Amino acid sequence: MQTTSRTFTIIKPNAVAAGATGNILDRLISNGFRIRALKMDFLDRNRAARFYAVHRGKPFFEPLLRFMTSGAIVVAVLEREGEDAVEALRTLVGATDPALAAPGTIRHEFGESVTRNAIHASDSPENARKEWSHFFSDDQIVEVDYQPSI
Ligand code: CMP
Repeated sequence: MQTTSRTFTIIKPNAVAAGATGNILDRLISNGFRIRALKMDFLDRNRAARFYAVHRGKPFFEPLLRFMTSGAIVVAVLEREGEDAVEALRTLVGATDPALAAPGTIRHEFGESVTRNAIHASDSPENARKEWSHFFSDDQIVEVDYQPSI
């Protein structure tokens, strides 16, 4: 059986507000990712602080929380053939600072600043699972084969 791996992404408020959700999802799909779970959501301060607990105390924590609670987000669990879903998504997303993100990456196109950087990509399989559990229960991840059955 083919190995697959998973990662987690957030399309951030600036990209959702700019109407870029469809474009970004299309890039993910056309670069080999399958969507296993997807929804629009909105973080209040408590949820955002829990999600970003690892950054508490850093100088960018408050601006990050203000931004991430400023509008709707779209969250997704993504899957890919092979074992490198985390790395493949981070390559497609580009550097944290959009000014340093390579041409062709999502942050190069849609990022505005280090805070308003359009999209989040988990940095390890363990963190991906932890992060998507803030948004999805196990039974909300669609495991069914993508091949139509009829
Ligand atoms: P992301 O990696 O998705 O999640 C943490 C976010 O903190 C990061 O994107 C940036 O948007 C934001 N951030 C703001 N300033 C910094 C910084 N100096 N270093 C890292 N992340 C930062």
